[in-house]
Amino acid sequence: MARIPKETVDQIIHHADIVEVVGDFVSLKRKGQNMWACCPFHHEKSPSFSVAPAKGLYKCFGCGKAGGVVQFIMDIEGTSYVEALKYLAKKYGIDVQEEEKTPEQQLAQNEKDSQFIVSNWAKDHYHKLLQDNEEGQSIGWSYLRQRGLNQATIKTFELGYSLDQWDDLLKSASAAGFELKYLEKTGLVVRREDDQGQDTGRRYDRFRGRVMFPIHNISGRVIGFGARTLKPNDKTAKYLNSPESEIYHKSDVLYGLYQARQPIRSEELCYLVEGYLDVLSLHQGGIKNVVASSGTSLTDGQIRLIKRYTDNVTVLYDGDAAGIRASLRGIDMLLEGGLNVRVVLFPDGDDPDSYIRKVGDQRFKEHLEVASQDFIQFKTDLVSREAAHDPVKKAEAIREVLQSIAKVPDPIKRQVFLQQTSQAFGIDEQVLITEYNKLVRNATQKAPGGQSSSGGSGAAGSASGYNSSYGGSSGGQQVPGGGASQRPAPRPMSPEEEAEALMYGASPEDLMGGGGDLGTLTREDLEPVPDVLEQCEREVVRLLLLYSAQPLAPEVAVAQYLLQQLDDTPFKTGVYADLLHLCRQELEQGRWPEVRTLIQHGRSDIRSVVAELATEKYELSPNWTTHQIHVPRELDLLQTACDNAILRLNKVNVERELAVRLEALRHPADEASMMENLQTIHLLKQMDNQLASLLGTVIPRGA
Ligand code: CTP
Ligand code: MN
Repeated sequence: MARIPKETVDQIIHHADIVEVVGDFVSLKRKGQNMWACCPFHHEKSPSFSVAPAKGLYKCFGCGKAGGVVQFIMDIEGTSYVEALKYLAKKYGIDVQEEEKTPEQQLAQNEKDSQFIVSNWAKDHYHKLLQDNEEGQSIGWSYLRQRGLNQATIKTFELGYSLDQWDDLLKSASAAGFELKYLEKTGLVVRREDDQGQDTGRRYDRFRGRVMFPIHNISGRVIGFGARTLKPNDKTAKYLNSPESEIYHKSDVLYGLYQARQPIRSEELCYLVEGYLDVLSLHQGGIKNVVASSGTSLTDGQIRLIKRYTDNVTVLYDGDAAGIRASLRGIDMLLEGGLNVRVVLFPDGDDPDSYIRKVGDQRFKEHLEVASQDFIQFKTDLVSREAAHDPVKKAEAIREVLQSIAKVPDPIKRQVFLQQTSQAFGIDEQVLITEYNKLVRNATQKAPGGQSSSGGSGAAGSASGYNSSYGGSSGGQQVPGGGASQRPAPRPMSPEEEAEALMYGASPEDLMGGGGDLGTLTREDLEPVPDVLEQCEREVVRLLLLYSAQPLAPEVAVAQYLLQQLDDTPFKTGVYADLLHLCRQELEQGRWPEVRTLIQHGRSDIRSVVAELATEKYELSPNWTTHQIHVPRELDLLQTACDNAILRLNKVNVERELAVRLEALRHPADEASMMENLQTIHLLKQMDNQLASLLGTVIPRGA
């Protein structure tokens, strides 16, 4: 069946670089010898899809898809082996000498191939009509010129024109030997039916007398068309689009993404607009990282598509208030998808296309800079303007903003947003957090399945409450092996989530899965798991090593703060105790304890722990370094992390001691020692409760 000669196949496979090929579809990050990304074949939030450049292979540890370059293209596009090879040949400029084939033979490949081929042919047909045909030129071409588009843009986006006839495409396609079946399947040709829905045998072109906008998938294949009428008073819709087909799933397509994917990656930002013309005008104006949702409301699929290339989206809106209101929901979905969202408004009556044509490329770019606003900020402004001087409306406005914040999966960002919002509304942050937690609780209760929502992207799943009481894992964090029977099989946490959970309230027991459901256990039942203590000590050492010199207050850096807070509680895990001692020594000698120096230590167990801590997959907040999110109070987050680490360590120590005392109570030696023991237990319990409530309320200090 393969009609590509073996030498050519070898040449293609030899030239194709798996990292380059896969990299066109997902953003790969190097970790060790391999590259990693979120899998393009199944929905996931932390990367389990890997590429091994040395072996030329990809493999997803989540869904099991694996193979080489050709298989990857076949998997991602659903095409045949031959089509995948041709894709790679085109990418690497390798000439494929195919044997002569009739169109039937071409079409005999597979269902999807056939639809791709006919769509591609139609695109060429429309494009030629625009360039060479008299009607195409006088009507289509001049329209596009009048809209300000130049030849380069027309070429890049492969724009075309469909003649104002019922059967131009039909006739040309059959002359070229294409089967009617595929023209119908792709919606290029419409089948006429009678009143009873019976096929009348008549066929006609769907697109007539329109400018054609081919819609490409991410590998550049044409999968459908948008078509704009040129008659100002046309009674039919301004735009006509291809129907859904086997190759065109509207909810998984963003117009312009093929042309924008590299710029999105290099700019680390995606502009989102509504229309075809917006994409074209901005691209032509030098803003190439732009895609359109094509007028429909955003879908999860589209959001995931963006997320493959960047975490940052800026939504460009037409100015009118109604339109903005209507789009808020779509933006919440972007937040829910874990994207950093900014918003740019345009003056009333202008869309991005008309505005760039009005003010020119340079001023347009300036506008993007100046007018871009963080979405939560934007929504806060919007709703508080609407609620001005009306306390009832203000409360509602605050709730609306909190609802958006609850969509943000990253707890650090949520925290920052809560701080900002409390300032914007002039409300005490604690009050706001209480309100927020109420809202999240309600949402969680309302969600089907209550607490659980296992790892999904549902609102309740991502809405995590803040530091509820000790042991109650708040909100959507999943607890591996948590043991409580009402929870469905939990998804294991990624290291990032684990780190976040550690910082924001889940207890180490939750994370280790050793403590069971603490809510149903009495304190007396609680036998501290040795690993928990180790974990706590490790966390303190980690902060100490990685952030030692970071100032928490004037004259107080993390290292000083931690060592001071630790007081003289000895560490029980040998290697962490030694590391702690080393850190203390460093500080006493006027040096910051650092990975750089301690990694040189003579003891190999010290070296390897230091290396582990330093290469831990998470950092305190990976977002600090990106320019998109402003974290005005990052130090507060570090402060929280330190406080939580110390409190937790103390708590585990107290619990241990408590357990020992309780055990001793069972075999009292004499009355006096029993009384003393009871007193100590009482004290320890008080401490324990205090620590619990401290842990429950430690939050970064607001303004
Ligand atoms: N759209 C559509 N069908 C319609 C109207 C709009 O599919 N009947 C989609 C198109 O993708 C269009 C987008 O929604 O590009 C935005 O619509 P609109 O703002 O009305 O069109 P513009 O893109 O601004 O087009 P033009 O400037 O040519 O009017
Ligand atoms: Mn427009």
